[in-house]
Amino acid sequence: MSDRLIIFDTTLRDGEQSPGATMATPEKLEVARMLARMGVDVIEAGFPAASPGDLEAVRTIAREVKGSVICALARANDQDIDAAWEGIRPAEEARIHTFIATSPVHMEYKLRMTPDQVVEAARRAVTRARGYVSNVEFSAEDATRSDWDFLCRIFAVAIEAGATTINVPDTVGYTTPAEYARLITYLMENTPGIENVVVSVHCHDDLGMATANTLAAIQAGARQAEVTINGIGERAGNTSLEEVVMALHTRKDFYGGIMPRIETQMLVPASRLVSRTTGIVVQPNKAIVGANAFAHEAGIHQDGMLKHRDTYEIMTPQSVGWESSRLVLGKHSGRAGFTARLKELGYGDLSREQIEELYRRFIDLTDRKKTVTNADLIAIVEEDLQHG
Ligand code: KIV
Ligand code: ZN
Repeated sequence: MSDRLIIFDTTLRDGEQSPGATMATPEKLEVARMLARMGVDVIEAGFPAASPGDLEAVRTIAREVKGSVICALARANDQDIDAAWEGIRPAEEARIHTFIATSPVHMEYKLRMTPDQVVEAARRAVTRARGYVSNVEFSAEDATRSDWDFLCRIFAVAIEAGATTINVPDTVGYTTPAEYARLITYLMENTPGIENVVVSVHCHDDLGMATANTLAAIQAGARQAEVTINGIGERAGNTSLEEVVMALHTRKDFYGGIMPRIETQMLVPASRLVSRTTGIVVQPNKAIVGANAFAHEAGIHQDGMLKHRDTYEIMTPQSVGWESSRLVLGKHSGRAGFTARLKELGYGDLSREQIEELYRRFIDLTDRKKTVTNADLIAIVEEDLQHG
């Protein structure tokens, strides 16, 4: 089995489905260019049947962006597949991603189709897509609430019709790592022809387990991860690209060296671009790309960091695109961090007594102010130097 993980980014499709995240074509193009430069293998550029604007954005990206496969989403019907082809047609390498729901609740209430009709629609959709492109992905929407043997049946039909990637979405963020890994193993052992295609995973974060579920599925043999920058997406969002990529880098030993080809130093710039473009703010404590991901406030942590950064950091900030870590001065900071900051500000020759007095004033200030800035510190020191 290959140890290369295909990164399929759906920021421009599932990510754009976050409430309020709509992007105009020039903005989508800028994001797509960034994704391609980062080394994303497949860019899901949109859902052309959804609107003329979506079709136009997909077409523009397909024409302009090189180096990544450009993919468009289509429901399992002729019109959607034809629209997807219209969008991706100019691409260097193009993929059609077609899907249909397979869970009892979706088949009965949403599609109003029998399981046999769903299987036939999948066969027809994949066959039609293969008439346009050789790279076709088939997804069983709501796979994690579907019958496992029915999934094996529909995937076998999709593979027979020419699908080259089969995707197992956790559409409503319902599964758990252990269960998802078991499902992937079951599908790999019981679906005829599965050894000839890429198994893909697509997770939502409704229970906060999207990244954990994705990683568990990769361990079970999936070799494509569907992700978004900053984890934006429907409801609670999708799996975060940056989290999966850095977990695989940081825990190479644990994941057996399965690697994506992403330029990790571009993770923070990409996060900023997507946040700016969509208007969705990144929470400060977000892993990897949040403003506090490499900020240390507690005295014990700052002291450790000043002695050896490995004490409290499992990856370097530079490896993901930050300039450096930050020792934040606040009420939990100790003398070590305080003294180090004074040195950085040019006050390296203060006596032990002076530092003690300044530290006391600084702690007083933290009772009134959440974080203390360099300007606050300079004011404290200057006042002390002038008035003693
Ligand atoms: O969550 C989902 O099931 C999807 C499919 C269209 C792949 O986004
Ligand atoms: Zn999704």
